[in-house]
Amino acid sequence: MKQIKKVAALTVLLSFCFFVSSSLADSEGIIKYRKNVMKSSGGHMGAIVDILKNDLPLQAHILDHARSINQNSKMILEMFPIGSGLGDTKAKPAIWENWSKYESAVNAFVRESSKLVKVAESGDMKALAKQFRATGKTCGGCHKNFRERE
Ligand code: HEC
Repeated sequence: MKQIKKVAALTVLLSFCFFVSSSLADSEGIIKYRKNVMKSSGGHMGAIVDILKNDLPLQAHILDHARSINQNSKMILEMFPIGSGLGDTKAKPAIWENWSKYESAVNAFVRESSKLVKVAESGDMKALAKQFRATGKTCGGCHKNFRERE
C-alpha cells in the first residue's frame, strides 16, 4: 500500500513537472515571436525618423512603414495568450490581470497608427511629424504599464 502511494505521488509530481516544462516550452515560441514583431515596429518607427531627420529622398517609403506599424498593431492581442507570461519575457503579469486595460492600450496604438497611415497618404509632412509623436506615445504608454524595465 505504501509503495502504491509512493508511485502515485511520484506520478503526480512527474506529470506536474512535465506540465510546467511543456507550458514553458509552449510559451518560448510565442515570446520570441512577439519580441520580433515588436522589434519590427521599432525598426519601422526608427526608419521613419531616419527619413525625416536626414531629409532622405525616400518620403514615399513613409507610407509603407506606417502601414507595417499599423498591421503589427493589429497582431498584438493574439500575441499575448493566457499563460505566456512565464519565461524569457518582459511582459508584466499586469497584462493578464487587467486585460481590458491592456486592450485599451492596444486599441490606442491601432487607432493612432491608422491615423499615421492616413496622414502619410495625404503627404502633409507637418501633420505627419505630429502624428508620429502621437503614435510613439502609445508605444511608451503601454510599455510603462505592461513591460518590465531593462
Ligand atoms: C499594448 C502594449 C504595447 C504597445 C502598444 C507596444 N508595445 Fe512594445 N512591447 C510590449 C510588451 C508587453 C513587450 C514585452 C514583450 C516580451 O518581452 O514578451 C514589448 C516589447 C517591445 C520591444 C522589445 C522586444 C525585445 O526584443 O525584447 C520593442 C523594441 C518594442 N516593444 C517596441 C515597440 C514600439 C516601437 C511600439 C510602438 C510603435 C510598441 N512596442 C508598442 C507592449 C506593447
